[in-house]
Order: sequence, then C-alpha cells, then structure tokens
Amino acid sequence: MDDDVVLRVRELRGRFDGQEHDTLHDVGFDVRSGRITAIVGETGSGKSLTGLCALGIQPASFRVLQGSIDFMGVELLGAPGSVMRSIRGRRIAMVFQDARTALNPVFTVGAQLAEAYRAHTGASPREAAAEAVSALERVRINDPARRAKQYPHEFSGGMAQRVMIAMGLICAPELVILDEPTTGLDVTIQAGIMDLLAELAEGGMTAILITHDLGVVAETCDDVVVMREGRVVETGSAKQIFTAARDEYTIALLEASRAIEDVVA
Ligand SMILES: Nc1ncnc2c1ncn2[C@@H]1O[C@H](COP(=O)(O)OP(=O)(O)OP(=O)(O)O)[C@@H](O)[C@H]1O
Ligand SMILES: [Mg+2]
Repeated sequence: MDDDVVLRVRELRGRFDGQEHDTLHDVGFDVRSGRITAIVGETGSGKSLTGLCALGIQPASFRVLQGSIDFMGVELLGAPGSVMRSIRGRRIAMVFQDARTALNPVFTVGAQLAEAYRAHTGASPREAAAEAVSALERVRINDPARRAKQYPHEFSGGMAQRVMIAMGLICAPELVILDEPTTGLDVTIQAGIMDLLAELAEGGMTAILITHDLGVVAETCDDVVVMREGRVVETGSAKQIFTAARDEYTIALLEASRAIEDVVA
C-alpha cells in the first residue's frame, strides 16, 4: 500500500437482508494522509453506509458480501470485535450531524470529553480533565476551562458541533469521518466549522467529509469521491472535479450547486 494511503476501500459490495438488489456496488476509493476526502452524492447514494462500514457499525441487517477496507495494513471487514473496538473511537473516529442529540444533557461538556478520553486511554481523571480542556481549545472554543464546566444546553448549535469534533479528535485518531457535520447549522456557523476543518487539515488531520454540499467541498477538501445509487461514479482531486469533471452525474451535481449559488447570491 502506498505510504500515504490511510484507508483503502476496494470492491465493497453489500445489501440489506430481504432485498433483491445490492445497496453498495463495488465501492472503492483511497483516503490519503493529511488530506480531506469528500464523499458527495444525492441522498440515499450510500455515503453514510460506506462510512459506517469502515467503523464496523453498519446496521445489523446490512450484509457485506465482498470487498476490502484496509486501514493502515489492517483489514477491517470481518475483523474480530476486539480489533474493531481497539480502532473505533481511538484510531478512527466518527462525528455525526446533530451534535445536540449526541451530547448527554446531564453531564458537563468537559466530563463527557474526559470520559471519551479515559475510555480509550485509561488516563487518570486529572489527566483526562486537562485533555478535555485542550480538546476544546483545539476546536477554537474561547475560554475552554470555563466552558468545560458547562452543560450542553449552554452551548449554541455551532459550538455543540465543535464539541463533537473535539470528542472525535480527543484521542488523536489517524482518521476522522465527519458525516454531514454542518447540516442543520446556519450558513455563517457552517462556514466557521468548515474553516476549522480546513485549519485542522493544515495541521495534518486526515478526514473523510460526507456531505451533499458541493460548496463546502470546493473550499475545504483535497480529494472528492462522487457516489450515486451505491456506486462510485468518479474520484479525483477537488481541482480536477471542479474544473474537469468527466462523469455526467458529477457535472449535473456541479451545475445544480452552481444554480443554487446563483439563487442565493
Ligand atoms: N437500516 C436500513 N435498512 C434498509 N435500508 C437502509 C438502511 N439504512 C440505509 N438504508 C438504505 O441504504 C441506502 C444508502 O443509505 P445511506 O444512509 O448510506 O445514504 P446517504 O448517501 O448517506 O444519504 P443521505 O445524504 O440522505 O444521508 C439508501 O437507499 C437507504 O435507504
Ligand atoms: Mg447519510
């Protein structure tokens, strides 16, 4: 495997129990180190499912029929539970949309971050509390020591999403999968989160960004994987996709997003 490939997905195929057709058809792409790889495509195209497979948390009714997901030399498909537990959260983290529902309302934000850190590292409570504060700092939350003592309801939607990103990053994972991390947030707050992701990528973070918003992809991502109906229809650098897309569907997606920009502008 090339040195800079962190995750290599090949010929991933699977279907839901009781269905006659596959939902993922030979999905394949590479995620390279220190880069943000976008997975884009219309709703239902298999973006989230692909991400979940990499963490081994796909729905129980989804059967992987063939393929390979190689994470730095470890085959994840069919890996024993103990292997997946040692990787999930610690070496590959996932950030979902709708941060509010993912945070527990009865514990402080700092306690939840510290717990996530302790669960994976076995650090002392004092060490974990310090890590929680520095994780908040990393996602540019002002006055992190004070903020760590607050409860989720004291955070705005955008700040809560920053907390979820901090939770994902707290164990310094080698790969972060962000599934629609800005969906449901105001446009200006979205822009702030995307700036943060770009900054984290500058600092060496490797990420998969699942999104249907091509606008954010253009500004933040290095590589793009376009999915449609469970298939990868095109992959390339962001520059390539935005200036010289070859696939008809990619071109239609680009045109649709430009049309939306024109309406908004
Ligand atoms: N638990 C499930 N049971 C049956 N089908 C499912 C289940 N979860 C997802 N699917 C189907 O699998 C396909 C891929 O879903 P997936 O969630 O990966 O789409 P997506 O690209 O992430 O879409 P979105 O942009 O709406 O999040 C869809 O057709 C969806 O209906
Ligand atoms: Mg999805």
